[in-house]
Amino acid sequence: MELLGIDIGGSGIKGALVDIETGQLTTDRHRIDTPQPATPQAVAGVVKELVEHFNWKGPVGCGLPSVVLHGVAQTASNIDEGWIGTNAEALFQEETGLPFKVVNDADAAGLAEAAFGGGRNQHGLIMVLTIGTGIGSAIIADGKLIPNTELGHLRFKGGIAEKYAADSIRKKEGLPWEEWAVRLDEYLNHVYKLFYPDMLILGGGVSKKFERYQHKLDVPCPIQPAELLNQAGIIGAALAAQAHVKVV
Ligand code: BGC
Repeated sequence: MELLGIDIGGSGIKGALVDIETGQLTTDRHRIDTPQPATPQAVAGVVKELVEHFNWKGPVGCGLPSVVLHGVAQTASNIDEGWIGTNAEALFQEETGLPFKVVNDADAAGLAEAAFGGGRNQHGLIMVLTIGTGIGSAIIADGKLIPNTELGHLRFKGGIAEKYAADSIRKKEGLPWEEWAVRLDEYLNHVYKLFYPDMLILGGGVSKKFERYQHKLDVPCPIQPAELLNQAGIIGAALAAQAHVKVV
């Protein structure tokens, strides 16, 4: 069965149809620049454009860089503050006439990696950390997602973890990969000692550069880069949309 998955990010909004049994994209990925400011109404307009681009008439799943409780955005990370308190599912449904399931963006990537990426044969607790502008997290325990964990916002080194170890900080401070990786390693070990995952998967832009810093990471569990790379958010969003598929 195919469903439409949409990944809403700070710079681009990307969508594709996904075969949710195999995790494969069945169309090309279509990307539209995120409107600035990324207000709920402006983003809803782009979501509608994507739905029309695919001429889609079924349920849609969306990943949003926000804590999402029952469709309502609670925070706004790299999107307009106006999202806070917005019922994203109701807004998108109103705009397109289609049923929507909206989840945190890292949770979407985590669902995809656990089902079709590095976590597909792994039992127990899989932790996916997306390292980009911020740090997003997903915890999947025996196949079940524990949503909105926000481990990038842990207090760490006198501040907030993502302000210490995100990829944007590496770029901003001009840190060589190996120097930045020391920070990432400290953070990963901190998180490891709180949750004792069976496997850690690193997503986000840095997953493509894993060989540059892998040798600096020393955590007591298997660690690997995300396999689905920039498709994970779309695939996971489509998986989340299954909530709207009626079982007959
Ligand atoms: C946000 C998370 C989001 C992550 C990745 C963090 O700053 O708090 O909700 O998943 O960035 O976009």
